[in-house]
Amino acid sequence: MCCLIYQILLHHRMLYGKKGHERHQNQHPQHRTQYDCKLFYNFVAKLVCKTATYKVSVSLEEKCLKPNNSFNFFKLPVTNNSIILGIESSCDDTSAAVIRGTELLSNIIANQSVHEAYGGVVPELASRAHQQNIIPVVHRALTVAQVKPQELSAIAFTRGPGLMGSLLVGVSFAKGLSLATGVPLVEVNHLQGHVLSHFIDEPGKQLPHPKFPFLCLLASGGHTQILLVKAPLQHQLIGQTIDDAAGEAFDKCAKVMGLSYPGGPVIDKLAARGNPDRFSFAKPQILELDYSFSGLKTSFLYFLRDEAALNPSFIEENKADLCASLQRTIVDILIHKVDKAIKQTGVKEIAVAGGVSANSGLRNELKCWGKKRSCNVYLPELRYTTDNAAMIATAGHYLLQEGKTAPLDIAPLARM
Ligand code: KG4
Ligand code: ZN
Repeated sequence: MCCLIYQILLHHRMLYGKKGHERHQNQHPQHRTQYDCKLFYNFVAKLVCKTATYKVSVSLEEKCLKPNNSFNFFKLPVTNNSIILGIESSCDDTSAAVIRGTELLSNIIANQSVHEAYGGVVPELASRAHQQNIIPVVHRALTVAQVKPQELSAIAFTRGPGLMGSLLVGVSFAKGLSLATGVPLVEVNHLQGHVLSHFIDEPGKQLPHPKFPFLCLLASGGHTQILLVKAPLQHQLIGQTIDDAAGEAFDKCAKVMGLSYPGGPVIDKLAARGNPDRFSFAKPQILELDYSFSGLKTSFLYFLRDEAALNPSFIEENKADLCASLQRTIVDILIHKVDKAIKQTGVKEIAVAGGVSANSGLRNELKCWGKKRSCNVYLPELRYTTDNAAMIATAGHYLLQEGKTAPLDIAPLARM
């Protein structure tokens, strides 16, 4: 298997070495990614046809080419100690992790700094960076975990939602590795992964897990939802944003202030030395448990435009207070609906997940609010708030226990 990974690496260098680069230069960017993904997948598929050691009645080539032909994996005994490789590539972080049971053995994340200059994720650049990162990241995750690919019980991958080009890289890689090893595939919904990040166990460290049923506020760059989680795989959506996500509001407002991407962590840092009561921004009046953030973003934009017309240095002079006041507003909006959800459901176990759950304002406020409401509040470790494969592997663990393997003709889904 080392030999297989080595050959994939060689091929990879061929694609992205000097010659590979020249070959792509005259193509339209979108065609280039499609071409690369196809080539990448075909290469892994062809390679494993030569190296596969197990016997199947129909040739693997045929299996690859027939879209509706699902591959029957050997039925592996599923135990609590199953070893799972998780692969996450839904947006701009390439990540791979290995777990045994729910115990984390490795979690490798390659961030993509290439987007900083553009103030947001550029899908074409993201998928190309995933292609460059995925093999070294998976290789490192297996090495750190001291696990050989043949020892895996399953390969769990993010099927969606996310950017199609980015998802394609992770899904194609997972399929190639599955073909090579005969290890079953498990498809994971990225959002389910965020929720289940609360069930990651670290060796020798008992992280607190919420008890079922619990409410989960999931706030990321693409989603803001409130879920009633009844069991590891039973997530009922009870509220969601009708327009922008909370992370998107942080990122867009940061961009308006000229701050770098991703804006959430930058605002968080600046807010620490600002006055949250200095400015007030409109809060949306949305029914039930749904959210809306686009109005806040627009009012913030108009406010800055009006103030900057009077004083061109307004943003620069008031940056910390602007960040603190904006953060306070977003946090209030988020918590207000969780409060409402508690009253509606009577559930007092509260978890928060997704990139925005790294926000120190939200974390501090949730702790105080939880005490006042006599709720148990679960905050994930910072390293599991933003996108990571540990949560995908953990979700894979629960799915595998229910025998939910995925066929080899599975395709990524941008929306799920
Ligand atoms: O979960 P995530 O890594 O990716 C998605 O699934 O979208 O979330 C990324 C989002 C970005 O919008 C980022 O600005 C936000 O999480 N974020 C934060 C913080 N860290 C990340 N927002 C506020 N405060 C933070 N400390
Ligand atoms: Zn995410």
